[in-house]
Amino acid sequence: MISKKMFDAMKEQIKNEMESAYIYLSMVAYFHSRNLDGMAHWMRCQVHEETIHAMKFFDHIINRGGEVVLLDLKQLKLTWKNPLEPWKDAYAHEQFITAKIHNLLKVARKENDYTAEPMLAWFVNEQIEEENNTDKVVRQLEMVGDSKEGLFMLDRELGTRIFVAGSPFDPAAYNLLQ
Ligand code: FEO
Repeated sequence: MISKKMFDAMKEQIKNEMESAYIYLSMVAYFHSRNLDGMAHWMRCQVHEETIHAMKFFDHIINRGGEVVLLDLKQLKLTWKNPLEPWKDAYAHEQFITAKIHNLLKVARKENDYTAEPMLAWFVNEQIEEENNTDKVVRQLEMVGDSKEGLFMLDRELGTRIFVAGSPFDPAAYNLLQ
């Protein structure tokens, strides 16, 4: 059975992951409103991925005999002044999530929770990719500067993102995301 401390920390992480999905969904709306459909597509994939992250914690708690209680979500941000700003926010948000995952691992170690550790190790690795993906776009956007052509090309490229992970609500499907 999961300890109360571990349970509380994971319960908060479900909220953090769902808030990630929520802020990225705001970015989907923002990018569509600026006719940057490729960036919007990339962020749609990200909303899907974040929902899977939340469900991994959700199912971990259930599988260990806990009862999930969902916390209130905050609307983190609704709009941005240019296309670079949401990517900067996404990168900063991923750094925030990385710190939260590291803290979860600290709790697991303090609680001698050997069952949670492999799952948290997956998230530690995942965060390398999450930070790198968003940071890379920040650097590319800074490189193209005011070039409309550069922005158009980058938008086209981000629109090719393929995300195959199945439904976030079907563990058999979302566990494809290894
Ligand atoms: Fe679930 Fe983007 O971290």
